[in-house]
Amino acid sequence: MAEWFETWFDEDYALLYSHRDEEEARVAMERALRVAPELTAGPVLDLACGVGRHLEILRRANPLAFGMDLSKTLLRMAPSSLRPWLIRGDMRRLPMKAGTLHGICLWFTPFGYFSDDENRALMLSLGSLLKPQGILLMDYLNADLVARTLIPEDTVESGEVRAQSRRSIEGDRLVKRMVLTHRDTGEQRDVMESVRLYPPLELQEMAVRAGLRLRRVLGTYSGEAFTEDSPRWIGIFEKAW
Ligand SMILES: C[S@@+](CC[C@H](N)C(=O)[O-])C[C@H]1O[C@@H](n2cnc3c(N)ncnc32)[C@H](O)[C@@H]1O
Repeated sequence: MAEWFETWFDEDYALLYSHRDEEEARVAMERALRVAPELTAGPVLDLACGVGRHLEILRRANPLAFGMDLSKTLLRMAPSSLRPWLIRGDMRRLPMKAGTLHGICLWFTPFGYFSDDENRALMLSLGSLLKPQGILLMDYLNADLVARTLIPEDTVESGEVRAQSRRSIEGDRLVKRMVLTHRDTGEQRDVMESVRLYPPLELQEMAVRAGLRLRRVLGTYSGEAFTEDSPRWIGIFEKAW
C-alpha cells in the first residue's frame, strides 16, 4: 500500500494549504538569506520544494539553486520558469554526490515522515551531501507546542474543498486524519498526515551526529528567536568539517 506522503500532496493539498503562499515564502527566504548568506552561491537544494514557492525567491539570489520533490502534481504546478531546475525523486534516495552542495533547505516540515531509522538516515545523508561550511536549513514544527495545544477536531473550507480533520498523538507521531469533501460534486476521500514529533533538542542532536553545528534557531518566518511558544522551529546549521 502506498505511504500517506506518496498520495496526499496533490491538488487538494495545494488548495487546503493555499494560505502557505508565495508571500510567506518570500518573508521566510529573505530572512534566511540574512542569517545564512552562503545560500546565495553554488548549488543549493530546496528539498521537498512542492510548487517551488521558496525556490522561486532563492533563485533570484542564486541562479544555481534547484528543487526536488516526490509529487508529480505539485511539480507540475510550479511556475514554468522553474521547470529546468526541478527534479522528481524520493528524499530517501538523494541522487547528488557527497560534499557537493552549498546548502539544503527543507521548508514547512518535510521531515519526520518516515520511521525513526529512515529519518535518522536522511539527516545523515543531508550532512554528507554538504560541502564543509555548507548550510542546512530545517523548518520544522515546534513539537512541544503541538503536543500542548493540539486541536482534536476542526473543519476548514478552501475553495470547493471542505476538510474535516481529527488530530491525535499516536506514540511519538502527530496524526491528522481528514475527510475531504468536494462541495460541487459531493465526492469524498480520506487522507492523512503522520509526522514524527521530534523535540527541538533531539533534532539538534541528530543534526550534530550528521556533522552539523547549530548557527541559529528562528521561531517564526519573520525571524524572531525561538521560544517554547514559537509556531516553528527553524534550525540553521553549518557543516562543521
Ligand atoms: C508540507 S509540503 C512542503 C512543500 C514546500 N516545501 C512548501 O513549503 O510549500 C511537503 C512536501 O514534501 C514532499 N515529499 C513528501 N515525501 C517526499 C519524499 N519521500 N521525497 C521527496 N519529497 C517528498 C511533498 O510532495 C510535499 O511537496
